[in-house]
Amino acid sequence: MSKILVTGGTGFIGSHTVAELIEAGHTVVIIDNLSNSEEHVLKGIEQITGKRPIFYKADCANANDLSRIFGEHPDIEAVIHFAAFKAVKESIDKPLGYYQNNLLSIITLLQVMQKTKVNRLVFSSSCTIYGEKAPLPLSETLPMTPTTSPYGRTKQMCEEIIADYVAANNQFYSISLRYFNPIGAHPSGKIGELPLGTPNNLIPYITQTAAGVREELKVFGNDYQTPDGTALRDYIDVVDLSKAHVKAVDRLVNGNSSTQLEAYNLGAGKGISVKEIIETFEKVNAVKIKWSFAPRRQGDLPSIFADASKAKRELNWEAKTVLGESLRNAWHWEQKYRKLNK
Ligand code: WQD
Repeated sequence: MSKILVTGGTGFIGSHTVAELIEAGHTVVIIDNLSNSEEHVLKGIEQITGKRPIFYKADCANANDLSRIFGEHPDIEAVIHFAAFKAVKESIDKPLGYYQNNLLSIITLLQVMQKTKVNRLVFSSSCTIYGEKAPLPLSETLPMTPTTSPYGRTKQMCEEIIADYVAANNQFYSISLRYFNPIGAHPSGKIGELPLGTPNNLIPYITQTAAGVREELKVFGNDYQTPDGTALRDYIDVVDLSKAHVKAVDRLVNGNSSTQLEAYNLGAGKGISVKEIIETFEKVNAVKIKWSFAPRRQGDLPSIFADASKAKRELNWEAKTVLGESLRNAWHWEQKYRKLNK
């Protein structure tokens, strides 16, 4: 098996991916600046896998730190790059911080990978790269079109930067994984989503409302052209998502890529409404959520869901976890994290 460097490896998707990598027999080195995660996540990974990953508190935009870390691990075979700011609304309020962090990180990482001749990269991308006007279901064959936030634009630019680097370097192979809506938590309850501050995303807001941390969930918009008037999204379980990263890194390390530059949608392939999420959460967890309708949120689209067939065909990967199980795991994690009835 291989040594894999994971940037942002103490984050929500990063930590779950590190656990899956270790379970698959890989050795993992994590780089994370802990700007949006906490170091105790390492303990959770160790409790799940029996192994504590090598950890460096460092920033991917710091070339000296990155060079030192790569120098200490000349046997790194591939990198999975999660480290980035990722809140859509925050990116609208703080665009410069998003461009500086997200773009400088990928550029610095590629420069150090070039210097150390590490030529395999899995990039954490997003369905937001397809933009506002893309026809549904979203397919990898679609071009990028203007998107609604600086966050989405940084993901588009990162994919372009990687594509240009691949074009200039015939030894370099990359896979971009375009996430839809990641939800849930590890079934063990040892790791999960840790939104610091007020959650932007729906599921942590629901679990915090159920835990009494938030007073009431606001449902943004009930007048969309959808079956129940609330917006549709493609919710994908975080453990399923993490397994796709293992498939992708194995594809690169084993030399099975069909071209130097590949991209895959990671979604379940169907749109679920906000109201369906609330109803399912209440049903599987036997809790009631206080909620009410509010106006639409700036930048929200009525409906987003994936054509997930390419990942099935080429990575032999598909979403397997049913929605109710993801929502049960999310609530279990919230209770453990808040030390409510465990
Ligand atoms: C989901 C739905 C809201 C909060 C996210 C990430 C984005 C990308 C895709 C990775 C929407 C509604 C939400 C609330 C609500 N992932 N909602 N009340 O906006 O689809 O985007 O997934 O790159 O980065 O941000 O996810 O969870 O914010 O919203 O009614 O308090 O829930 O309007 O319809 P979104 P979300």
